[in-house]
Amino acid sequence: MPHTIALIGGTGPEGRGLATRFALAGHRVIIGSRDAERGVAAGTELAAALGRDNVEGAGNDAAAAAANIIVVVVPYSAHRATLEGLREHLAGKIVVDAVVPMVFDRGPRPVDVEAGSATEEAAEILKDTGAKVLGAFHNLSAEVLLEPETPVNADVLVTGADADAKQVIMDLAGEIAGVRGVDAGPLRFSHFIEGITILLVGINGRYKAHAGVHIAGLDH
Ligand SMILES: NC(=O)c1ccc[n+]([C@@H]2O[C@H](COP(=O)([O-])OP(=O)(O)OC[C@H]3O[C@@H](n4cnc5c(N)ncnc54)[C@H](OP(=O)(O)O)[C@@H]3O)[C@@H](O)[C@H]2O)c1
Repeated sequence: MPHTIALIGGTGPEGRGLATRFALAGHRVIIGSRDAERGVAAGTELAAALGRDNVEGAGNDAAAAAANIIVVVVPYSAHRATLEGLREHLAGKIVVDAVVPMVFDRGPRPVDVEAGSATEEAAEILKDTGAKVLGAFHNLSAEVLLEPETPVNADVLVTGADADAKQVIMDLAGEIAGVRGVDAGPLRFSHFIEGITILLVGINGRYKAHAGVHIAGLDH
């Protein structure tokens, strides 16, 4: 069944990249922005580029309100304020955090998060709302996602407490060409997955690549 998927902060490369792939999989996609006009422009541009009518744009709040799956792709510096501002629109829904707490300071470096990880911080902010918070998509390079003809060739490691929601997001990941969704366990493992992206950014710099991760030895 097609989902309605909102990308919060979706005007950036990661949001537009995921929007591209979700649209190609047939879902209704809404690119969210702090500025509704910027969101609409990004949605219109992507719909035209893909030749599809299942992509649109909106303000972050309208995008979240309309969606059943919300993917958060803002910089970590905007993570808490963005989630706090959207609480009412996220209640009871699947909220996927793809935010990596990192900064560039002579190379990529992690930012300490009191909750343990950005995803656990999201779960704390949204507790009592009934939102099903998951971590996913942290390790997919925007550059590759933005090339619709190129298979992504990577695993998506999914964390979360709600087994049904996790299955929905593993299935969604598996609809991206060349991607396999992997159950990576509870939210407390999100820290490691967010950290892998920092490792990949460093590797990408050295090898001039857009690397991803594969978990070896799984027979599915
Ligand atoms: N780029 C990658 O390859 C990649 C890969 C994996 C994970 N990620 C993670 O995905 C997230 C997005 O990455 P990105 O490269 O797309 O980031 P980005 O371009 O820096 O930011 C994405 C969007 O966030 C919004 N934003 C910026 N500052 C904000 C603020 N102070 N408050 C609220 N919204 C703000 C902007 O949208 P508006 O101005 O339109 O509101 C911007 O277009 C990051 O957390 C990153 O760690 C990125």
